[in-house]
This record gives sequence, structure tokens and C-alpha cells, in this order.
Amino acid sequence: MSGRVSHTVDMSVKLGELTLRTPVLTASGTFASGREFADFIDLERLGAVVTKGVSLEPWEGSPSPRIAETPSGMLNSIGLQNPGVEAFCEDDLAWLSSVDVPVIVNVSGHTVLEYVSVIERLEVEPRVDAYEINISCPNVDSGGMAFGTACTPAEEVTRACRAATSRPLIVKLSPNVTDIAEIARAVVASGADGVSLINTLLGMAIDIRTFRPKLARIVGGLSGPAIKPVALRMVWQVAGAVDVPVIGMGGITDTEDAVEFMLAGATAISVGTANFVDPTTVMRVTDGLAEFCRTRSIARVSNLTGAMRT
Ligand SMILES: Cc1cc2nc3c(=O)[nH]c(=O)nc-3n(C[C@H](O)[C@H](O)[C@H](O)COP(=O)(O)O)c2cc1C
Repeated sequence: MSGRVSHTVDMSVKLGELTLRTPVLTASGTFASGREFADFIDLERLGAVVTKGVSLEPWEGSPSPRIAETPSGMLNSIGLQNPGVEAFCEDDLAWLSSVDVPVIVNVSGHTVLEYVSVIERLEVEPRVDAYEINISCPNVDSGGMAFGTACTPAEEVTRACRAATSRPLIVKLSPNVTDIAEIARAVVASGADGVSLINTLLGMAIDIRTFRPKLARIVGGLSGPAIKPVALRMVWQVAGAVDVPVIGMGGITDTEDAVEFMLAGATAISVGTANFVDPTTVMRVTDGLAEFCRTRSIARVSNLTGAMRT
């Protein structure tokens, strides 16, 4: 534990039944399952590891190129490449068994049945603490974001996942909608214990030397600092619309960003694209949040949640 974290600040937060040591999580798909980061940071100081997206069968992902840099951000069209739930259990979960940190598994599917089948397989794994249901990936042809851009499919997948588990269920929302609060209300009414947002914003880029799109899929998901104001606005809207914990993300790179998300209503925050720039970002933000509270005599970091003054 770093000496900079004051013992006088209570850094714990509650995500429904789950108590986390700190509000700082990793954003799915930017941190694998943590193993690659273990040389740089102490994973046991994280609020939770949120794993990359896991599907029933192995998914190859999208063709390359599938990453493009943009001003203050990046576009990706990875397409949820992953080895499937069986390999995930044998490899990633087995490795995580030696680490004392809550594990939230990000679940993907092309169909409602696939989401449910992934959960059913994971139910027998004691190392899983909660699920994050990704109904917001813009980079797959079926499933993914298709479930997250209208209330009826979002409700359907949430209800089915809810019936498959009594573990905490977090639903990850898409920003590619007109009214994100409406989708948040729909998934909470269907059994979600929490919501996380935002996933990436649909975008594209063209190489003017070749006249070709920079991504093979042409469009992809925009992430990083460029999307922060949009994400913050949506977190504030959703926190005002539902009565469950909100996990906020989208462009968080430093303490100030994290504080803003908590003031807007987030109970916890996730660091995504910033992990690629500096793998110690989560530790900097954790120490920074403790310091921010300590210097202002804020006893509990959870007191920041929704504390924006208007
Ligand atoms: C390369 C990459 C892969 C991602 N993979 C997933 C994923 O598997 N599941 C998911 O729910 N979100 C995924 N995301 C979205 C992030 O978890 C996060 O919601 C988004 O990037 C916004 O946060 P950021 O700006 O801090 O990166 C991915 C993002 C990136 C950049």
C-alpha cells in the first residue's frame, strides 16, 4: 500500500452487495484479465478487475487494421476477440485465483441464449464476483450494441441474465442512443443491480493518402479523453434516472477526471484507454482520489458520489 493513501480516508464503495476497496476499476477490453499489468501495478489495490469481453465460443474479432489514433483518443474495431468462456476459465480465471481482488466478468453474446450460456458456465466458478453484460459493443455484426440501443432487447437480455444468476449484474450501456436514461431505466426495471457507461462512441477515420478507411470495418468505437464530456453528461443523466450504482467511464486519465465522474453521480469509475498510455494510471488515480479527499477533510470517498452543486 502506498504511503500516499491516507488511512483517514475510507476508500471503500458499495456496488450493491459487493464492497470494493476503492472505486477505481479497469474498463473491459483495455486491461485483459490483469496479468499483463501485474508487473507494473499491485492488482490487489484495485476496486475490481473488469475482464475483457467473454463469449461462449472463441471469437476471432474483426479484420485488421482495427486500431486508429485520433485527436485525444483512439478508434478501435477489435470485435470482441476472445478465446471463449472455457479457455477463459482455464487460463484467466485460474490465474486470477492467486490475486485478492474482486473479479467482474464482462459477458458478450450474439444472442440472448449466448449471454445466458456464458453466465451459466461461469456460475460454477467461485472466482467470479459479478457480471458486466456488454449490450453496447459497436464492433460486432449481431448482438452487442444491437441489444443496447432500444429498450425491448435491452430488457430481454437483462431479464434472461437476471434469471441465470443471483450474483450482482451490471449492464453496460451504449452512448449511441438518443436517450440513455430511458435504456438505463429499462435495464434496472428488468433486474440490473447496477449500470456502467459509457462504451465507445461510433466513429470513423479515412486515410487521405490511400482514400481508404483507417479501419477495415470502416467504423469503430471512439474512446479516450475526446469522449469524456459526453460520458460525463451521460453518467449525470443516468445517475439521476436510476436508483442503482453507476460505474462511470469514458476518457478518464487522471484524478480530476475521476472526481468529476463521481461528482456527476458515479459510485465507481473505470480507466480504459489511458491504460495503454500509462499502465500505472489506475494507481495514480487511486492515490490521487485519496489525496483529494484527505486534503479536503472528506472522510469517505463515497461522499463524492453525486455531490455536484448546482
Ligand atoms: C481496445 C478496446 C477494447 C474494448 N473492449 C471492450 C469489451 O470487450 N467489452 C466492453 O464492454 N467494452 C470494451 N471496450 C470499451 C471500454 O471498456 C470503455 O467502455 C470505453 O473505451 C470508454 O472508456 P475509455 O475512454 O476510458 O477507454 C473496449 C475499449 C477499447 C479501447
